Amino acid sequence: MKSRSKCRKPTSLRCNAGSRYSTSVVIFCLLGCLFLLNLYSYTHYKDRNGGESQLRLSRHPQFRELQEVEEENIQIPPPRGKRSPRAAKRRPKKKTTLIDEFLDENSQLRHVFFPGHKRAIDPLQTSANESYYYYPGRIWLDTDGNPIQAHGGGILYDKNSRTYYWYGEYKDGPTYQVHNKGAARVDIIGVGCYSSKDLWTWTHEGIVLAAEETNETHDLHKSNVLERPKVIYNERTGKYVMWMHIDDANYTKAAVGVAISDRPDGPYDYLGSQRPHGCESRDMTVFKDDDGVAYLIYSSEDNSELHIGPLTVDYLNVTSVMRRILVGQHREAPALFKHQGTYYMITSGCTGWAPNEALAHAAESILGPWETIGNPCIGGNKVFRLTTFFAQSTFVLPLPGFPGSFIFMADRWNPADLRESRYVWLPLIVAGPVDQPLEYSFEFPLWSRVSIYWHRKWRLPHGWNGFI
Ligand SMILES: *[C@@H]1O[C@H](CO)[C@@H](O)[C@H](O)[C@H]1NC(C)=O
Ligand SMILES: *[C@@H]1O[C@H](CO)[C@@H](O)[C@H](O)[C@H]1NC(C)=O
Ligand SMILES: *[C@@H]1O[C@H](CO)[C@@H](O)[C@H](O)[C@H]1NC(C)=O
Ligand SMILES: *[C@@H]1O[C@H](CO)[C@@H](O)[C@H](O)[C@H]1NC(C)=O
Repeated sequence: MKSRSKCRKPTSLRCNAGSRYSTSVVIFCLLGCLFLLNLYSYTHYKDRNGGESQLRLSRHPQFRELQEVEEENIQIPPPRGKRSPRAAKRRPKKKTTLIDEFLDENSQLRHVFFPGHKRAIDPLQTSANESYYYYPGRIWLDTDGNPIQAHGGGILYDKNSRTYYWYGEYKDGPTYQVHNKGAARVDIIGVGCYSSKDLWTWTHEGIVLAAEETNETHDLHKSNVLERPKVIYNERTGKYVMWMHIDDANYTKAAVGVAISDRPDGPYDYLGSQRPHGCESRDMTVFKDDDGVAYLIYSSEDNSELHIGPLTVDYLNVTSVMRRILVGQHREAPALFKHQGTYYMITSGCTGWAPNEALAHAAESILGPWETIGNPCIGGNKVFRLTTFFAQSTFVLPLPGFPGSFIFMADRWNPADLRESRYVWLPLIVAGPVDQPLEYSFEFPLWSRVSIYWHRKWRLPHGWNGFI
């Protein structure tokens, strides 16, 4: 891998600096190098992706099912109410887009984006043949029959108890604006926690980190903001460590908070907040690598770039090491994962609660450089693909036993009533070549394509039993 950049740099230096060489030698040298590079990356690419497990996987009928491209055809209804042709002529109406419809509380398409009647994950009522199907965007219930409140969340697989824990923002309160220009918000209630053995039946474990009701100077005072909580387990200390975005109602504090517990299901003790590396930190996530080193990734510099840096061995602080990545690209909602030694990340654009286009990025080293490899969304329709299926990334969970396959977790925010925000989980598969050669590179890309497949309903491949 390293030879990729090694080869390119000295060659171009020698070629560019070679005023004493004739033009043809320069061109020959350039072409030769490009050819070798392509050959190298091509064979390397095949090596990487031709693994047996990958082959077995792609031939598996249930994986083919997940990778089927499912189209959606949503018709925008004509404007409501009668309007005379003359009136229509006088005031030509701005064309309504699906995003306008999505953000319009009174849209006739409301039920398309926020289907309310049919409960999707309902372990109490779902008939046996519907079991284990995910319905992206529908209401998902826990085992008590209540809508799951774990927005902006992430999942921890706890090896000790062989249980999945899903943590997220518990937003079951009224949505309001502090002032005219303020974003729609719900007061902090706390971090909701749900446990599951099969990733489908979720039991509410309570609010594992609760808001502070009275102390107004406390980070967790209900008037503040707590977003995107993520938990990782520290093998050395035996502690479960939660990182989260801490902010004031105007998003000017831009900090990260840390909490700690002896148990995955809490309660968590809040340790405090900081601006990591002295920088603003808004949307964030943590990622624990195979070697036990964990990293904090956060949107910074007015959300114009991401920062990434390793945590201390106890996972309670950042170290002094930090790299700026995707500089000037204005990305947020990072979700990191790893496949066959390569790091991948999904991010969203920065448009508040409104959905926008997801991008996938890849890197050989987690500290970068990171390259953008395009929009991962497949299926639905064009608007679906340009809005991440009307949702925003929050986490990518590897499916143990099925290398290259992941669950892409996203939030379909409902700015009119944030507690009614929905979950969009879809299969994410890392396989095959990326769509086009990378912008700043003459080579065949070394990365595999990251694909998120739209499905109105889907379930985990047969043979999945939830356990590692
Ligand atoms: C699922 O079960 C329902 C009854 O519980 C039945 O009406 C329906 O046909 C079944 N669907 C399939 C695909 O088997
Ligand atoms: C309120 O919270 C702040 C910050 O955590 C703390 O320093 C202070 O002691 C708390 N006050 C009370 C009365 O608990
Ligand atoms: C947020 O901004 C508004 C308007 O600028 C201001 O009135 C309010 O005091 C600010 N609140 C906080 C918590 O900073
Ligand atoms: C975290 O580390 C920084 C230096 O990297 C240090 O200044 C700060 O005091 C540490 N914070 C805690 C809570 O240990």
